[in-house]
Amino acid sequence: MKKIGIIGLGKFLPKKVLTNADLEKMVDTSDEWITTRTGIKKRRLVAKGEATSDLAVKAAEEALKDAKLKPLDIDLIIVATITPDMPFPATACFVQEKLGAKNAVSFDISAACAGFLYALTIAQQFIARGNYRNALVIGAEVLSSVTDWQDRNTCVLFGDGAGAAVLSEVKSGGILSTYLGTDGSKTGLLFIPGGGSRNPVSRESMSHRMHYIKMQGNELFKLAVTIMASAAQTALKAANLECKDIDLVIPHQANMRIIMAMAKKLGLPKEKIYLNIDRYGNMSSASTVTALCEAVKEGRIQKGDIVLLDAFGAGLVWGACVIKW
Ligand code: UT7
Repeated sequence: MKKIGIIGLGKFLPKKVLTNADLEKMVDTSDEWITTRTGIKKRRLVAKGEATSDLAVKAAEEALKDAKLKPLDIDLIIVATITPDMPFPATACFVQEKLGAKNAVSFDISAACAGFLYALTIAQQFIARGNYRNALVIGAEVLSSVTDWQDRNTCVLFGDGAGAAVLSEVKSGGILSTYLGTDGSKTGLLFIPGGGSRNPVSRESMSHRMHYIKMQGNELFKLAVTIMASAAQTALKAANLECKDIDLVIPHQANMRIIMAMAKKLGLPKEKIYLNIDRYGNMSSASTVTALCEAVKEGRIQKGDIVLLDAFGAGLVWGACVIKW
């Protein structure tokens, strides 16, 4: 069995910073509420005209440099996103062109906040089977384009950003296990009702603000804690490991309280949890990969460490992955 691992990482966060104090001027909220309920202090937003593929390309260029590979070495690009540049073609096609990665089969997947883990698992299978050698797996979002800036229940939560990983065969370590799950009975907890074939864009859909994120936060919160903890246990079991073997957890960054409740369920101290939610908020598919990139660059992950990626989001979808670094 081939060992497949991450050989390069990159990230890109747009320049503009939106703080909790800025949000206080936009909706009826407070820095105190946002900080205590979510752990978020600020988030990044794109400039006018900046799209998901623009962020994705910058993250990918950094990941390629880190992996010491050239764009032409890449034969597979998967972009996980729920905020594509356009309904079609795939954002991955724009990324391929801008990178000059002419040899890469390129497509998008939609698995919301678990998107990076879904894409990573797909790429791993292709490389293990020998279809492709070097894959670029990207999580990129411009959530500000689908955020209702009049809805205090959601607008304080999200941010824009991108992260990228290069996957290849490795000599030691690599992905030890992956686990994915879906529960389509709960699509109504987090969704964008308008703009698709169910409710195409119309004057009516616009006036009902249907092209923005709708969320039942409270219900999701409880499910997120239980499902993320159980996904972690399933992935660890598949790797013949236990919670005590984990050196660092890279969780999806939706809410600090979700992450800490999950850690408590798993009996993990907070020192073993990587957080960047305070700086960027929830960036859906970009959250886990950006956090992984930062953790490696900050020296929080060393060769031989056991790292657990764990994500949960709209669908519902979830995923966990154990990697030996
Ligand atoms: O990305 C993966 C999927 N997403 C998630 O997993 C998100 C999961 N959910 C959450 O993170 C939390 O449920 C939220 C952060 C969204 C909300 O926190 P909560 O503790 O569940 O608050 P709540 O929705 O129960 O609302 C409590 C109160 C309400 O007021 P009343 O009805 O008690 O008077 C809200 O209207 O807080 C109010 N509220 C706010 N107040 C100030 C809601 N949003 C705000 C706000 N500022 N921004």
